[in-house]
Amino acid sequence: MHVISSISDMIETRNALKGSVGFVPTMGYLHRGHLSLVEAARKQTDNVVASIFVNPTQFGPNEDLDSYPRNFERDEKMAEEAGVDFIFYPDKQDMYPEGYASYVVPEGLDNHLCGAKRPGHFRGVMTIVLKLFNIIRPTDGYFGQKDIQQARILEQMVTDFHLPVRMHIEPIVRERDGLAMSSRNVYLNPDERKQSVCLSRAIRLVETRFRAGQRDTAVLLSEAEKEIQRQASSKIDYIELVDYHTLEPIHRITDRAVLACAVYFGHTRLIDNTILE
Ligand code: PAF
Repeated sequence: MHVISSISDMIETRNALKGSVGFVPTMGYLHRGHLSLVEAARKQTDNVVASIFVNPTQFGPNEDLDSYPRNFERDEKMAEEAGVDFIFYPDKQDMYPEGYASYVVPEGLDNHLCGAKRPGHFRGVMTIVLKLFNIIRPTDGYFGQKDIQQARILEQMVTDFHLPVRMHIEPIVRERDGLAMSSRNVYLNPDERKQSVCLSRAIRLVETRFRAGQRDTAVLLSEAEKEIQRQASSKIDYIELVDYHTLEPIHRITDRAVLACAVYFGHTRLIDNTILE
């Protein structure tokens, strides 16, 4: 495995690659969720590139940019073991040099869910992913369903800008007790960690009710809310049922839909979701 830290070296390396290129963008502090993306890329493409870059433009002023967990040596080892061929590890100065002034913005798909709660977040995500796509020119991009709004917005960006990238959205990877894997899980203290399982429990509950025929959004949301609120340290940021394509709230499920939630446990904000179809 090679670590490449300059944009020009990455472009040169990419130009020499033969066959398909699977790309797994990350902000590091890898976990089994990221590794499942690498695994899918490994199976489906000839070369696997992962990027590690904590992208400052997708963090709000009061968010956790400075404290975001980082451990490059650990990531390097995990990526190598998982079969990554190249890690692209640029620095901030390279990606956003003095005078940087261009951004990509979503139109509408960020009206709800995290987009409504984290203004500017998806502008930062779209911008960095487009930049990384331009540098790495992958044939295939791998994203986790855990960040479902991000995945949908990026899928739409690829369509709207005619980018020659096949997008893959891989299933959520969970801890044994159901908690969705996230780099931010390390922020949880033992008590919050225990309580955080209510998120996946609420999701399973909604899935069960949906399978039994319940299609009324208000009923499903109220059950999920009750399940989460049973935990004293939980504070719901949002819980919504939206159409999969438009990400607009719906009253009844008649087509592919997403139940998505963000919940604080202490200072830690966790997200989770399920696709209902
Ligand atoms: O999902 C993430 O880790 C980030 O949002 C991404 C896609 C790497 C862009 O910084």
